[in-house]
Amino acid sequence: MTKAWIVEENQIDQVSLLKNESLFNVANGYIGIRGNFEEGYPADKVSIRGNYINAFYEEATITYGEKAFGFPETLQKIVNVMDGQTVFVTVGEERVNLFEGELKDLKRFVNLKEGYYTRQIHWVSPKGKEVKIDITRLASFTTLELFAIHYHIEKINFDEEVIIESVIDGNVENYTNPNDPRVGASHAQLLNIVKVAEENQVLQVVGETKVSKLQVALTTAHRTNCEAGIEVNVAEKSIAARYTFDKGNAVIEFTKYNVYTDTRRHTDPVAEGICLIKQVSEQGFETIKEAQKAYLETFWEVADIEILGDEALQQGLRFNIYQLLQGVGKDQVSNIGAKGLSGEGYEGHYFWDTEIYVMPFFTLCNPEIAKQLLRYRYHILDEARARAKELGHRKGAAYAWRTITGKECSAYFPAGTAQYHINGDIAYTYIQYYLATGDQAFIKDFGLEVICETARIWLEIGHFQNGLFRIDAVTGPDEYTAIVNNNYYTNQLAKYNLSTVGKWVKELEETDPEALKAICEKISLTQEELDGFERASENMYLPYDEERGICAQDDSFLSKAVWDFENTPKENYPLLLHYHPLTIYRYQVLKQADVVLSHFLLEDDVDLEAIKKSYDYYEKITTHDSSLSCAIYSIVASKIGYEDKAYKYFIETARLDLDNTHNNTKDGVHIANMGGTWMAIVYGFAGLRIKKDHISLEPKLPAKWDGLSFTFLHKGAKIKVKVQKDKTILEVFTTQSIQIKVKDVMYLVEEDTVLEI
Ligand code: BGC
Repeated sequence: MTKAWIVEENQIDQVSLLKNESLFNVANGYIGIRGNFEEGYPADKVSIRGNYINAFYEEATITYGEKAFGFPETLQKIVNVMDGQTVFVTVGEERVNLFEGELKDLKRFVNLKEGYYTRQIHWVSPKGKEVKIDITRLASFTTLELFAIHYHIEKINFDEEVIIESVIDGNVENYTNPNDPRVGASHAQLLNIVKVAEENQVLQVVGETKVSKLQVALTTAHRTNCEAGIEVNVAEKSIAARYTFDKGNAVIEFTKYNVYTDTRRHTDPVAEGICLIKQVSEQGFETIKEAQKAYLETFWEVADIEILGDEALQQGLRFNIYQLLQGVGKDQVSNIGAKGLSGEGYEGHYFWDTEIYVMPFFTLCNPEIAKQLLRYRYHILDEARARAKELGHRKGAAYAWRTITGKECSAYFPAGTAQYHINGDIAYTYIQYYLATGDQAFIKDFGLEVICETARIWLEIGHFQNGLFRIDAVTGPDEYTAIVNNNYYTNQLAKYNLSTVGKWVKELEETDPEALKAICEKISLTQEELDGFERASENMYLPYDEERGICAQDDSFLSKAVWDFENTPKENYPLLLHYHPLTIYRYQVLKQADVVLSHFLLEDDVDLEAIKKSYDYYEKITTHDSSLSCAIYSIVASKIGYEDKAYKYFIETARLDLDNTHNNTKDGVHIANMGGTWMAIVYGFAGLRIKKDHISLEPKLPAKWDGLSFTFLHKGAKIKVKVQKDKTILEVFTTQSIQIKVKDVMYLVEEDTVLEI
């Protein structure tokens, strides 16, 4: 196994421990377990111990100093649920503790190809007992409720009894940090333990959130390779099973099976937990590991990207893709949080990050999961409609800026509710999904309804003046500029959203008028309204600065003073942690790509010269304080032909978490950036674009690489792209005809074909 499939980190200083808790999270989109040591750390070490269930949340009242109309009353927060990680090993009379005695060797690694994480310990106790322990854990992709841990213990120089104590711990709290707006500030104690029980050595602890009244059950069973004395201790909020292995067992194998069930997915989590644990604990750990490997083999067949000539970047890239799979929700109540399931940063909330940064990967590599993510937005459409009403809109749906169940959870509206562009982002992604898959049923089942409801909001918040349609008082993607008139990005996406409704209606009129009629009736969509959409779209005002030849970020942006970058010390970044928002808002300074992002998403609306000028202008004043920025600057640099920049920004994204460059990986990995890494390769270096009637590629291999290859799916076809120094090879597997444009030459492919260009 080459290094590029393995991520290994062995340091155990405080900073590394916390960072690695995030990096070594094991998750499957349903459960997420941070990479904590099973036995914990000594009291002087800080740990963020975490066990999460996607979309399992508690609700809390938001306390405002000055509350205004329409502010959300409550927030939702992912809950740190009962801990199934805890296992203590005692050799003779000494408990294994890596911070005492002699740690002869420690290896910690995640195997990205096969989907597990291992900690290999070679330790000598203070009294000289030498032991080797391999601990492997995984969150199963084939049984989403299962988190399993396997211990392989070898006694090296002693023959005494070994005790393994396996615990379900309900004494859990969420992590808070009042000084960092990217982490929850309060509400740590979220779970009441309502049941602790044991029957036939199956342990179960049930927790219930105090306000949202959701229940979660953790059911645990064990399996060993040799006889052991078993004793179960039940406490108020926890339960422990103590396995005593007599002398003479030189090698001990011990598996802990944890099954999480919850009321958001299971009608009876308690009974279903018991039933499931019986099934899974009949399988040996190796069988579970084999199933994991098989699942990942299928996943990587399409998802993998190979870079020839740079192992560190290759590793970063695979790690990032793997985290997308680990974090992404696989049912309609869940989505992918800004940190996946690896930490509590952003409180488990879903943002536009999903649509703009994560969806491209799933749309092109795993459309089933992509569809699930779209379905989630449909599932919360009624909440978005309700939010629109709350905001005073007569019609339409206003999707929450950050949420779990669809309710707005942002207490800071200038960088929350004001980001109406999320409506455009969702519509954009629906449209891209359709272009990539040709899945017409999806338009009928929910696509048209969603993009129509998002479109309605533009008419609610915009107005005509001198023949142009303007949208005032919004915040664009760049959160260092707030509540502006005519944010270029927002207006562009609104235009695209508005114009597509009519197109889809026409398409359905021809293919399935009955279905169209039913949708129009359901949402009272009239021709008059459609005409209104078209008028607003055609006359959308898109701010442009003649003098500079660039698209203006908004009406007032370019008249502000430019931030004094020269006199801003390095330690004052990210600016949001060192300056009052108003100070930041007064200047031309960007947290992340804004106009440049829209030049990528909707490139056909602008000529290359304007894109280049915008890039040159905005790049100089962008801090990239948001991890959502670099990937976009890399992609657009590739398009313009700025090869060095494309490469430089790509490096930033590929190893952002592995190298902890934003210094906050401890709060969880940066999921949007991880999707961005994939995009920087596929949309950036390979220049892939999905157009209405063809796909196009514009490959530019970075000079430092010997080659690059990746695969994607398009309308049922599978296309493998190999970019080499002197040519590009396309292996197309298809049963239908597809038009593929490579470097401006159009090819018509009608069957399995290899193209060499
Ligand atoms: C970014 C947002 C993003 C959020 C969650 C913020 O720092 O500015 O664009 O949605 O993080 O990742």
